[in-house]
Amino acid sequence: MFANLPAMALRVRKAIIPAAGLGTRFLPATKTIPKEMLPIVDVPTLQLVVEEALASGIEEIILVTGRGKSSIEDHFDVSYELERTLSDRKKSELLASVEKISKMVRMVSVRQKEPLGLGHAVLVARQAANDEAVAVLLGDDLYDCDGRKPATRQLCDAFDRAQGRGVISLLEVAAGEESLYGVVAGKPDASDPSLFAVSDMVEKPAPGTAPSRLAIVGRYVLPPEIWPILQSTKPGKNGEIQLTDALKTLAQTRGCVGITVDGIRHDAGDRLGYLGACLAYAMKRDELRPGLTKMMKQLIAAG
Ligand code: UTP
Repeated sequence: MFANLPAMALRVRKAIIPAAGLGTRFLPATKTIPKEMLPIVDVPTLQLVVEEALASGIEEIILVTGRGKSSIEDHFDVSYELERTLSDRKKSELLASVEKISKMVRMVSVRQKEPLGLGHAVLVARQAANDEAVAVLLGDDLYDCDGRKPATRQLCDAFDRAQGRGVISLLEVAAGEESLYGVVAGKPDASDPSLFAVSDMVEKPAPGTAPSRLAIVGRYVLPPEIWPILQSTKPGKNGEIQLTDALKTLAQTRGCVGITVDGIRHDAGDRLGYLGACLAYAMKRDELRPGLTKMMKQLIAAG
């Protein structure tokens, strides 16, 4: 179907950001607030993810939303009353930070009516993606790449080198933690050792059975071949359409490689990971670092 696609089709212009999961690990907070909207200090996780996509050269964002759809959409929309009030009160810095959000990017949102899995969330964006190659950024996963290329840019560059094979970001996890992730099997690519040629993937392997300690985390660049594969992927674990199952088929047909992103990854969809992200981002702010350091020392001393 895609055999004669022109080279242009492989330019990655669009990014899909799934943010329609139930966020059960953050209940009761996520009963009304999507976990992707929880703040990292004062910026929602999702905004940081959108900023990464833009800094990576993405031109259009496709947000996949479910419950709490309006708070996500409202966040990226113009807020006339707030902007007017900030302007009247001469709060120019705050006004600029609010205006920046609505001017950020061309954004569309599509609805995943039921959280039927990450693969399903990506699939509902198919029409908006127009069957093009896409970047996928999980809305609760952060990569802090200060001073380096943004994570999605690193994946897009690898996508060029991989000549149209899919690219996934890999993280070496501690022994024993493999069963929390999708894990890959493979070896360094013969033509480019900076790429890890993936031969197989297992979603949450049973303890002691993982093919490696390389886990799939949060960022993907997928060629157009992913669309018919996702369309025909049957529900797997938990009755959900698993992105990992579709990636496995992609690895065994068009091909798939992994890279380890040069940056610090925070799993903001997990309570401990979220707290770590809040502290790490706060420590980068001059106005917060001294007070936070003092507070942490007091907390640690208090046991
Ligand atoms: P997670 O598995 O971390 O999200 O999916 P979850 O299901 O909301 O988490 P818990 O376990 O209940 O706390 C990773 C990303 O994929 C999105 C989520 O919103 C999250 O950003 N996702 C997941 C969807 O958009 N749809 C789905 O059906 C599943």
